[in-house]
Amino acid sequence: METVIWNSDFEVGIKTIDEQHKRLVMLLNSLGKAIEENQGKDAIMGIVEEMKKYSVYHFKTEEDAMTATDYPKLSPHKQEHDAFIEHVLDAVDTLESGGKITPSEVWNFLRTWITKHILETDKAYGPLLIARGIS
Ligand SMILES: [Fe+2]
Ligand SMILES: [Fe+2]
Repeated sequence: METVIWNSDFEVGIKTIDEQHKRLVMLLNSLGKAIEENQGKDAIMGIVEEMKKYSVYHFKTEEDAMTATDYPKLSPHKQEHDAFIEHVLDAVDTLESGGKITPSEVWNFLRTWITKHILETDKAYGPLLIARGIS
């Protein structure tokens, strides 16, 4: 699996959030490694579960900051977060029940969604939140 290499393009400019994004990318890369090395279902599911839990925590950090600063696009942003969590929960259920999805497909979804969401949706709130005192 292709490793996602953190670079300054991913930086929103808010320290807490950048650190949380780095952790998400780190978990994504751990998942890729677990799949590549055939570490088994328990290891893979454990990382997916950790990614889900950490995403919920991270999304709350972002949504609280957007609420505190009256960010005008909070609602569509939150909808993206909610849809992501729903998709991950579905994927976990399907993987658990041995349905028609592979860990690589889940990894691919996570990688595509996380990188696109950071680069487009998250980076969009950076300037306004920073201007309104979030650091
Ligand atoms: Fe984010
Ligand atoms: Fe976000």
